[in-house]
Amino acid sequence: MNTIALILAAGKGTRMKSKFPKVLHKVGGVPMVEQVLRAVKTAGTQRQIIVVGYGGETVQAYVGNQAETVMQQEQLGTGHAVLQAEPLLQGAQGTLLVTCGDTPLVTADTFKALLDCHQKSGAAATILTAILPDPTGYGRVIRNAAGQVVKIVEQKDGTADELAVHEVNAGIYCFDMSLLWQMLHGITNDNAQGEYYLTDIIGMLVSEGKIVSAFAAPDYKETLGVNSRAQMAEAEGVLRLRKLNQLMAEGVSVIDPGNTYVDADVTVGRDTVLYPGTVLEGHTTIGEDCQIGPYVRMTNVKMGNQDHLQFTYAHDCEIKNGCEIGPFVHFRPNTVIGNNVKVGNYMEVKNSSVGDGTKLPHLSYIGDSDVGGGVNIGCGTITVNYDGKIKHRTTIGNHAFVGCNSNLVAPVSIGEYAYVGAGSTITKNVPDKALSVARARQRNIEGWVKDDTYKK
Ligand code: UD1
Ligand code: MG
Repeated sequence: MNTIALILAAGKGTRMKSKFPKVLHKVGGVPMVEQVLRAVKTAGTQRQIIVVGYGGETVQAYVGNQAETVMQQEQLGTGHAVLQAEPLLQGAQGTLLVTCGDTPLVTADTFKALLDCHQKSGAAATILTAILPDPTGYGRVIRNAAGQVVKIVEQKDGTADELAVHEVNAGIYCFDMSLLWQMLHGITNDNAQGEYYLTDIIGMLVSEGKIVSAFAAPDYKETLGVNSRAQMAEAEGVLRLRKLNQLMAEGVSVIDPGNTYVDADVTVGRDTVLYPGTVLEGHTTIGEDCQIGPYVRMTNVKMGNQDHLQFTYAHDCEIKNGCEIGPFVHFRPNTVIGNNVKVGNYMEVKNSSVGDGTKLPHLSYIGDSDVGGGVNIGCGTITVNYDGKIKHRTTIGNHAFVGCNSNLVAPVSIGEYAYVGAGSTITKNVPDKALSVARARQRNIEGWVKDDTYKK
């Protein structure tokens, strides 16, 4: 059966009080509209169309070629929004799955179950419904004495009896396209909000003797619509727990799920432990047997196995296997940390590669550098990479030893097995196996302090 998804995302989202279109706000690390798009694709829809309006160009630019888009110039209501897709769907037959860009918690399984229910029943329309403890704000599903759906009534238009109903319209529907357009052209904006309500066609289909079914969401929390920042935080909480439960089911330990934040696209290997205060963002991938946290933030980091990190911020970089990182480390973009490397306390590494078994133990800045394997960088070493106009590189050969509190003024290279004396400011290359000392020679002046200066 031909199935097309239509995502309504033109609304301004006034209650968000934002400069940005509502559907581009992220939940679970992914913009809401993309959460919805992924779910309807996984559910097996063959085409996806997004109705954009407020901030439409920004949404279109974000969506790119992930879906078709159509512009709704004026936001005259959900029924009017669906009509904007009519020109794109001329002659299309089958099922139109209509959903909202601000309902990001509905799973692909629920979309699939709704589509199956609709296609098996042969109904003209099937509504996804939910029984909510507090239905305020949602459209209510009104049924007759025989339990059949009769219509949907919006909060602002309902009578007291209608508003007492707890079964709500999730804003998600399947429609048989052969009847849809004709019905939509018949709706009016004669209601409390002066809008063309998509929900009106339910009552119209019923009065024409067509079958309308309802399919209850397996978990009402999936149907949460995000209209405010508070609801967005609620959605975030649901997605966060969903992701952590998935990771735990796959063999990851999470010490405190209430205090661990993992974006949708992050992967974590078996027997890795996530300690409290861990924030894993973007396309971060973590291998097996790692200990992450407490207090680690990683954004787009590729990590191997058996790494231990605490109190660290790393972004757009790679950490291979068996590393001891932290506390208080900052890895900046384009950094590759080799195997069995030790970094921390208080270290910054930027745009650099660090070879296997190297130690960067305390209080250093390594920027724009290629550091070999088996190197020891003494406490307080600085690569002086910037001359005020451009950045220069520093090369440090395998097994070199850089003494504490040294400045390596780039461009400069330290040879393999070379030594740099503590406190040196190195401005010229150091050959392999050499010792370089670049500091003033110590001079002791005996008797500098006269006895009477402190005996008075
Ligand atoms: C809608 C339903 C309500 C349901 C609720 C579920 C109607 C009339 N009401 O109400 O029964 O319980 O969703 O969350 O449909 N949009 C457009 N263009 C417009 C207007 C809206 O694209 O002109 C989009 C919005 O961006 C949003 C979606 O349609 O993604 C729903 O609109 P919204 O204004 O949030 O409707 P609700 O009042 O929540
Ligand atoms: Mg809404």
